[in-house]
Amino acid sequence: MTSILILYGSETGTAQDLAESMGRECYLRHITARVYDMDEYELGCITTEKVILFIVSTTGQGEMPPNMRRMWRILLRKSLKPDVLKGVHVAVLGLGDSSYQKYNFAAKKLYRRLFQLGAVTLTIPGLANDQHELGIDGAFIPWKKEVWKEVKKLDIFPEMTLDPDPAIKIRTRYRFFYGEGAERYQDDGYVPLKVISNRRVTSEGHFQDTRLIDFEMPSYPSYKPGDVLMVRPYNPTETLQIALDALGYSDELLDRPTRILNNDPYVKPPPCFLVGTLRKCLERLWDLQQIPKRSFFEMLAYYSRDRAEKERLKELASPEGLDDLLDYANRSRRTTAETLRDFPASAKNLPPDALFEILTFIRPRAFSIASAPSPSHVELLVAKVEYKSRMSDARRGLCSTFLSRLKEGDEVYCKIRPGTFRFPDPEVPVICIGPGTGVAPFRSLFGHGSSKGLLFFGCRGEHSDFYFSDEWKDIEGVEVIPAFSRDTEKKIYVQHKMRERAADIKRLLEAGASVFIAGSAGEMPKAVSEVLTEIQGEEWMKKAEETGGIQFETWS
Ligand SMILES: Cc1cc2nc3c(=O)[nH]c(=O)nc-3n(C[C@H](O)[C@H](O)[C@H](O)COP(=O)(O)OP(=O)(O)OC[C@H]3O[C@@H](n4cnc5c(N)ncnc54)[C@H](O)[C@@H]3O)c2cc1C
Ligand SMILES: Cc1cc2nc3c(=O)[nH]c(=O)nc-3n(C[C@H](O)[C@H](O)[C@H](O)COP(=O)(O)O)c2cc1C
Repeated sequence: MTSILILYGSETGTAQDLAESMGRECYLRHITARVYDMDEYELGCITTEKVILFIVSTTGQGEMPPNMRRMWRILLRKSLKPDVLKGVHVAVLGLGDSSYQKYNFAAKKLYRRLFQLGAVTLTIPGLANDQHELGIDGAFIPWKKEVWKEVKKLDIFPEMTLDPDPAIKIRTRYRFFYGEGAERYQDDGYVPLKVISNRRVTSEGHFQDTRLIDFEMPSYPSYKPGDVLMVRPYNPTETLQIALDALGYSDELLDRPTRILNNDPYVKPPPCFLVGTLRKCLERLWDLQQIPKRSFFEMLAYYSRDRAEKERLKELASPEGLDDLLDYANRSRRTTAETLRDFPASAKNLPPDALFEILTFIRPRAFSIASAPSPSHVELLVAKVEYKSRMSDARRGLCSTFLSRLKEGDEVYCKIRPGTFRFPDPEVPVICIGPGTGVAPFRSLFGHGSSKGLLFFGCRGEHSDFYFSDEWKDIEGVEVIPAFSRDTEKKIYVQHKMRERAADIKRLLEAGASVFIAGSAGEMPKAVSEVLTEIQGEEWMKKAEETGGIQFETWS
């Protein structure tokens, strides 16, 4: 039987989530679908496929996610004939963030290559943007509408309906199982690290709470400067409590030992340390803190047995209800737990298996390692995200809040992975620009003791958030140039300090120095690039970007 192939390339699970939801949508349209991680797929069969949907995120600085790199290398082979994908219909959805300079590069490159290899494109690539007011849905919804229309026209799937068939009952991807049996869980490389200390590094009166957190690393491979620690956070207790109250499950059900079984052979089971009981899943597996997406309202409406609430949920999930949804959820930064509370009749006593379709899994977060390589410990410099919205309680970032509350002896599931930076040999000088927590990878580099160069650091004030100010003077060969934005009437940022030191920068660049920029993906990387262009010219910038002479590790 002909089926659709859905391939995803994902770093932190969003593309995987969308790929699996497209698989579910196929099922509701009477189409069989296979959903694979791109590098899991047997590429030798690709020429026999009829329709392939690719859903890929961009990571690093315009890079392919790790789980599609093998396939990408093969697709790039010069030996492939230009018509090798003739007759294969493809559509590409990219996930990206326009605050990165190489916006959605992975999807754009993949689309171009598929086209070069003769694939028939069903529609132009959808480019989802984290910065869009509606998030990923802003591009995902119109893209999939177009895809279904074009797939229907192909007439390959005789049973296919253009819209989901309301007569088909949704089959949850997973189900809870309370008996004995073999376990099959994903081993995604995360290990528990124990907290040694968690110290505030901003002054007490300062608005920003930034933490230096030290973890013990028993028998874990060491790391290099520039590496990143991926952290799996849990929901905060107050958010968990709101959800537990809304869902109304008994303690007996919440604490009954359980396991998760797959209903769909193509989806991966979650890591076992996130499961065990329903309560543990609500604490560790599902994101109760994120702003609910449109699919949340769609699925809660599907399971709701309350007429009035069902109607309201459907309204919020409909294309006409877009502004209403933005106002209700996005502009107020309402959490998933608070939304469950707002729909009490629908949330109360939901079948636990339905939560797999209504809620989404918590995404791990990346943090640049802030300590010099060590076989026994690793440090992170974490700025706690906290802000106000029109909701009465403060809004909090999930992972930074989780980390900021850790106590000595607590355990956190983490994994080390390479970051974007490729630092040169120690004899090559470096020019580093790292305002705020962007200084983390440079503390790792210079703490190593061998690299030399300039470090431009930016913060609000010398006595409020000048991280590691007492450490730098002891490091030989490194000059730290701070820019304090609130200590004088005129705001001074790193780019101003760079202009003042243009002659030194030029001298170092001409001696072969490399430039590294880390921190907020907002205005800073652009402002710094402008100064470097003023100093060395556009040609130099272009070449430096291509050859790794200038590298960025920025985040939004
Ligand atoms: C490679 C890499 C390295 C990183 N290194 C570090 C590091 O060393 N230190 C560090 O602290 N972080 C670092 N980060 C960022 C980190 O991964 C998290 O993104 C950050 O801690 C926030 O995550 P969170 O879970 O607390 O917030 P989330 O729950 O993910 O919420 C963040 C979201 O909140 C919203 N938001 C934030 N502030 C406001 C506001 N004022 N108004 C409205 N909305 C707002 C934004 O939409 C933002 O996307 C790094 C990121 C990457 C990719
Ligand atoms: C470390 C990191 C690097 C990123 N780099 C880029 C980038 O260069 N260009 C871009 O458009 N988006 C970039 N993004 C945004 C992601 O592509 C986007 O958040 C996407 O939804 C993540 O999907 P995933 O969870 O499937 O990996 C980056 C995100 C992270 C966490």
